[in-house]
Amino acid sequence: MALLEINKLNKRFGGLLAVNDVSFQVDPGQIKAVIGPNGAGKTTLFNMISGTFPATSGTVSFKGRELKGKKPFQVATLGMARTFQNIKMFSGMTALENVMVGRHVLSSAGFMASMFRMPWVWKEEKDIRDKSMELLALLEIEEHAHTDAQSLAFGQQRAVELARALALEPSLLLLDEPAAGLNMYETAEVGRLITRIRDLGITVLLVEHDMSLVMDISDEVVVLCFGEKIAEDTPKNIQQNPEVIKVYLGEE
Ligand SMILES: Nc1ncnc2c1ncn2[C@@H]1O[C@H](COP(=O)(O)OP(=O)(O)OP(=O)(O)O)[C@@H](O)[C@H]1O
Ligand SMILES: [Mg+2]
Repeated sequence: MALLEINKLNKRFGGLLAVNDVSFQVDPGQIKAVIGPNGAGKTTLFNMISGTFPATSGTVSFKGRELKGKKPFQVATLGMARTFQNIKMFSGMTALENVMVGRHVLSSAGFMASMFRMPWVWKEEKDIRDKSMELLALLEIEEHAHTDAQSLAFGQQRAVELARALALEPSLLLLDEPAAGLNMYETAEVGRLITRIRDLGITVLLVEHDMSLVMDISDEVVVLCFGEKIAEDTPKNIQQNPEVIKVYLGEE
């Protein structure tokens, strides 16, 4: 069974059909990429998948369950985490605290309990801290755990962002342009980290403009153009697809 199944998804903004009848599946254990020129509808697609806003029509199913009407935090607790096109580190917080915030969504301690610092909350807090440190280590950024997150280099902030998303213990990770703003070296690093995440058994769906990264790490690629899916294939075949070359690579 597919982990994620998108069926005839549409999003209309006034007169603009930003996503037009898009269907595809993401299988467990895959790294799948969505590519396409600026304005193709990639982020809009992610926003519908993660419950940020509703689709105009069509369905999104995750683990065999339709997500219609689910809010982003509900989708997140079902096991879908995401990162955003622009890095969002919480200001005035260390890298570790940024990751701990991601983890808190899962914690059972309610708001009142946290406020009054019930003893069992201390234990949970420690578990969250330990788990968050482990994630920073996994992403090779633990030496910066106590650094203010916003003062880190872009590539390091990306790693913190990935750790924060992993803190949800997702089975599916949505990444919107993980290499945006990164140099060649940092991009290769992020590629390596994404592969490592996949090797942990986490399925990855990413939007990305950096073609060398996409072709390097993806098992399959979906190409969007003006809201429509024009191709879905292996990276090798995508690079040789005449329509893709014409509408996408042709504009470079
Ligand atoms: N909230 C919105 N209201 C109106 N139009 C929108 C909204 N969000 C996106 N659009 C439009 O929908 C289209 C698709 O935008 P989207 O951000 O999904 O593209 P994208 O493929 O992510 O582009 P990029 O590669 O530049 O990030 C664009 O024409 C955009 O202007
Ligand atoms: Mg976008």
